[in-house]
Amino acid sequence: MAVKIIVGAQWGDEGKGKIVDHLSDSVDIVARYQGGANAGHTVVIGEKQYVLHLIPSGIFHEHVTCVIGNGVVIDPIALMDEIKQLRSLNINITGRLLISHNAHLIMPYHKLLDSIREKSSEKIGTTGRGIGPAYIDKFMRVGIKIVDLLDRDTFVHKLKRNIEEKNQILRKIYDNPELDINEIVHEYEQFDKQIDEYITDTALFLNNAMKENKNILAEGAQGALLDIDHGTYPFVTSSNPTSGGACTGLGVPPTAVSSVLGVVKAYTTRVGNGPFPTELEDETGEQLRTIGGEYGATTGRPRRCGWFDAPMLRYSAMINGITEIAVTKLDVLDKFDQLKICTGYIIDGKPLKSYPTDSRTLDKVQPVYLIFDGWKSSTRSAKDINDLPLNARRYLDAIEELTGCKVTIVSVGARRDQTIFTK
Ligand code: IMP
Repeated sequence: MAVKIIVGAQWGDEGKGKIVDHLSDSVDIVARYQGGANAGHTVVIGEKQYVLHLIPSGIFHEHVTCVIGNGVVIDPIALMDEIKQLRSLNINITGRLLISHNAHLIMPYHKLLDSIREKSSEKIGTTGRGIGPAYIDKFMRVGIKIVDLLDRDTFVHKLKRNIEEKNQILRKIYDNPELDINEIVHEYEQFDKQIDEYITDTALFLNNAMKENKNILAEGAQGALLDIDHGTYPFVTSSNPTSGGACTGLGVPPTAVSSVLGVVKAYTTRVGNGPFPTELEDETGEQLRTIGGEYGATTGRPRRCGWFDAPMLRYSAMINGITEIAVTKLDVLDKFDQLKICTGYIIDGKPLKSYPTDSRTLDKVQPVYLIFDGWKSSTRSAKDINDLPLNARRYLDAIEELTGCKVTIVSVGARRDQTIFTK
């Protein structure tokens, strides 16, 4: 049995969709373990680009079964849109998409509360998809699960209890009009028939699959530094994108995990608020954004861009147990005269020994950089590591040395064939 976990090792948007799509060739199951429609996984097949928010990108491989695990929060409206999109592409998903009966639902009041809270001066810069409020309800033990959709009475009972409380909050705290329970029941009651065929006990399915020696790819969304426990709190998402989240979010035991692949961009990006020590708020940052097409796949927001941050990666490798890394978007750096990698941080004139996850400290650190000559030629048609220009190989060697992680995959473009396997 083998479970390989794929984690975003930075602040999300590392290109996990493409790597999962690639690795899907050699696995039987791809299982998403946390987050919701806040994620946007882009896959380019031929000339066409597809963005998936909930369904794992393994769905494009006919032999792969895709699982949405219990740790995911599901917006049925977004899910149905995605199912419709896949069906319009003639992709057969019957029997190939399994949704955990224990996953929680995102309800209209979650999205509303998310957007209202984001109007405050202390905003996080969320995607507005209702993620935080849905996880709040899950942990308050008042959440509505996917399985509740199948029993109208239970669904209406739970919804009523929630709506009464949410309407008080909306009216009394936010001076917002109340929500109509009948409208929500009407909107959601269509989903039971549409989703019924996919709902199952996915933890049981995965554990049975492991007994049959099937290979499973556990796909994380967002990135390690957005982790609710280990990220740059409070500027984080409300789940555990780190590798530990795969066990709780799928119901697979830690002893089943054979490897953890961290996906990293050859530079760093972040969407939303929060500290970002290597951020470039100048022309170079703008150049990275333009060449890299650094605009959110879910919200279209411009991403903040900066240099590769090795201390962050060392921390990420530690908490995730990363055994190898995939470096994506190396080609975005093709035209730069000079490149920098942050090797450490200084605070109050002294080097920091460990990574500060406390956002106020991270806000104050000064990055220390190593400077590299650019390679000033295209890497986009490289098929082998030795096809890369010498300076590009030096840059990758430095990433390996400074992070302590072996680079096993290098991506030099959005297409499937623009991927180099180094081993
Ligand atoms: P939320 O997950 O929508 O609550 O947003 C919380 C933080 O996580 C914000 O800074 C978002 O920009 C960020 N975030 C959420 N999902 C993603 C993602 O898929 N990629 C990058 N950042 C994300």
